[in-house]
Amino acid sequence: MVFLNGKFLPIEQAMVPVLDRGFIFGDGVYEVVPVYDSAPFGFAEHMARLDRSLAELRIANPLVNPPRELVEKGGSAVSAVDNRWLRCDIKSISLLGNVLARQVSADAGAQETILFRDGKLTEASASNVFIVKGGELLSPPKTNLILPGITYDVVTEIAQAAKIPLVFRDVSEAEVRSADEVWVTSSSKEILAIVTLDGKQVGDGRPGPLFKRAFQLYQQFKARVMRKEAVSA
Ligand code: PDD
Repeated sequence: MVFLNGKFLPIEQAMVPVLDRGFIFGDGVYEVVPVYDSAPFGFAEHMARLDRSLAELRIANPLVNPPRELVEKGGSAVSAVDNRWLRCDIKSISLLGNVLARQVSADAGAQETILFRDGKLTEASASNVFIVKGGELLSPPKTNLILPGITYDVVTEIAQAAKIPLVFRDVSEAEVRSADEVWVTSSSKEILAIVTLDGKQVGDGRPGPLFKRAFQLYQQFKARVMRKEAVSA
């Protein structure tokens, strides 16, 4: 099998287009990451070298972290009614409900669509949601109404380790709209502060202090885990 342009293909179907710049001009870079016992070996080092090679050729890295400007300034979200099915806990490929929800924010030029079902927060179209209220971090519990996100678990772990008060409970729409901070979390967004919801400022309209702390802890966690994986391999 070959993983090419986002698809796993049988080797005989994996083709390079005749106008591919790498094929015609040798304009490309590569890395080989060994995997032992399912764990990548020296992943951080390989990625660092890949980043450097790409930067030298002025090729944008599609594997990159969320844009720095978005992390620093925060993103915007709009809200919608959560009208998806009742097994949102399954990471199914049936994502039409999510796609339609995401379209609402795409049309509004926003990063996410935050979903409410029966007046309660569930999640966002492709992320989980946390809010900060009175110094406490709140998020809906893992039920059939949300995807149990891996990033949600990481945020839980780092919040608990840092003794940041975290409560999983039903969160009302009113609480979200009057929150001091709103975050969305996902593998690709990591932790992103939402500073505008439906055109209204969240808190003081800038990423809040707890977000900044959690973001830093998240980066440290990432570095630690990657290092551990490299060592254990
Ligand atoms: N989105 N909720 C929904 C509906 C999601 O689609 C996702 C993941 C999450 C967060 O899960 P995790 O932290 O494991 O990435 C929550 C992925 C990134 C996607 O759409 O590809």
